[in-house]
Amino acid sequence: MLLARSLYLCGKRSEQKFKWTYSWNPARYWRLRSDYPDSWRWLVLAERIQGFLSHAEGDRLFRLARDLSPSENPVLVEIGSWKGKSSVMLAAGLAGKKNAKVYCIDSFAGDENPIYQERYYKPLLEQHPCDLEKVFRTNISCCGLEHVATPCKGFSFEWCARWKLPIDVLFIDANHEYDAVLRDFDNWSPFVKIGGAIAFHDVGDQYEGPRHVVSQRLKPPAFGPVSIVNTLAWAIKCGVAVDVDTALQNASAHV
Ligand SMILES: C[S@@+](CC[C@H](N)C(=O)[O-])C[C@H]1O[C@@H](n2cnc3c(N)ncnc32)[C@H](O)[C@@H]1O
Repeated sequence: MLLARSLYLCGKRSEQKFKWTYSWNPARYWRLRSDYPDSWRWLVLAERIQGFLSHAEGDRLFRLARDLSPSENPVLVEIGSWKGKSSVMLAAGLAGKKNAKVYCIDSFAGDENPIYQERYYKPLLEQHPCDLEKVFRTNISCCGLEHVATPCKGFSFEWCARWKLPIDVLFIDANHEYDAVLRDFDNWSPFVKIGGAIAFHDVGDQYEGPRHVVSQRLKPPAFGPVSIVNTLAWAIKCGVAVDVDTALQNASAHV
């Protein structure tokens, strides 16, 4: 089934005139399987999507989604989806759960930060011009996850102003400027359930924003210890619950 999907994905890619560099290498897949026994099949699919995650990070997102959400009505929010690589790993972690949703928030029309747009995304889009939202939807449906991962077009601060659902896992990977990461954390973290998790990508030397927000905000008593795999950092929320009205007030203060 997964192999069929993977071949279908391969076909779609060539239809879209992507350069296709796939080569069948059983030893490589054998290693992937032994390193990531729970998620390797999804990693094989996700690695065909251009994105910014390592296998270890993808595996961790899969396990956070699977292990920290209930078997019915789990809600995950991803801020910054690009072409859907991380969305696939989060949604895959919810496979088999009832009425599972990953809300994938992205402008799909350029980074909020024009410097990042120019430096990182424009060269990629020049290489492979595309409609990002369409590519996102195609990638998600090629992986059979369209019933789980829902694209939410727009900026994080726009969506937050009308958000109401408690969140099991929040993944922040959008504008990496300090003020923007802090805003996303302050706007969205009150919605995360106690026992749920908040994860950030690109927590390392290259980006000060996520690094500083993690060191300033992910700490006791509101959060458990920070864990890190490559540049993915996360912690479990263990502080006092904040009611949704307070969260909404915070959100409008940051718009
Ligand atoms: C680093 S990419 C996300 C990569 C993706 N998580 C993955 O692993 O493949 C960042 C994305 O965030 C989007 N973005 C930037 N600022 C945003 C904001 N404030 N709200 C929503 N999306 C934003 C950009 O358009 C870009 O698609």
